Amino acid sequence: MNVFVLSIFIVTVVSQGLDLSKFRQHEYQFIIERADILHYDKRYMNYAKVTPFKCNRTNVALNGTFNFKINAGSELVVMIQFYRFASNEYRLFSVRFQDEFCKFLEENVAGVQKLLNCGDFAGCPVVSNTNITLCNFIPDDSKFPPLIPSGSYRLNLHALYFDKELYVMELYAKITRPEVK
Ligand SMILES: *[C@@H]1O[C@H](CO)[C@@H](O)[C@H](O)[C@H]1NC(C)=O
Ligand SMILES: *[C@@H]1O[C@H](CO)[C@@H](O)[C@H](O)[C@H]1NC(C)=O
Ligand SMILES: *[C@@H]1O[C@H](CO)[C@@H](O)[C@H](O)[C@H]1NC(C)=O
Repeated sequence: MNVFVLSIFIVTVVSQGLDLSKFRQHEYQFIIERADILHYDKRYMNYAKVTPFKCNRTNVALNGTFNFKINAGSELVVMIQFYRFASNEYRLFSVRFQDEFCKFLEENVAGVQKLLNCGDFAGCPVVSNTNITLCNFIPDDSKFPPLIPSGSYRLNLHALYFDKELYVMELYAKITRPEVK
């Protein structure tokens, strides 16, 4: 039922252009378990790296640095595909959305404005040879899409610039809801 409502939500927003201001919810927690960079394209990036570390009993935080060789400007697009763990593997799941990175930043999706708190990144447009730094980053789950079912997920974040894939980051996370007693 939730999945059904969810796909309506996602399909609806996609068909109208994403309304990132609707990425607000208070029903589930999103807890990172680990993350890594699957690959990055050295023709367009100086480096991309991410270091997950346990910051307390429940949370894994991320440090990371992204540095582009190109002025991606406002054309940098991030596509996020969810895979849900079921029957021993992560399977393609019906949550996928993409938009310009600068729009995610403007709407503070997942609390991504925290990128402005460390390193050299002062905001959009995305310019070359500048460290975009994650420090002690824990996503703000109140700025996630509503209605995603509880479970274990892998999120693949693809950074795209026109027809080029600049990097792919994998993020393993759990979505949990408080137990109803
Ligand atoms: C772990 O740290 C996060 C972020 O600082 C905080 O929101 C959370 O409450 C902490 N959890 C515990 C169990 O201390
Ligand atoms: C950018 O990040 C890299 C890798 O973390 C680091 O070696 C370098 O010193 C940083 N540059 C600046 C200007 O902070
Ligand atoms: C994460 O980054 C912060 C800020 O740069 C730094 O103080 C901390 O030592 C880093 N932690 C790890 C585990 O690399």
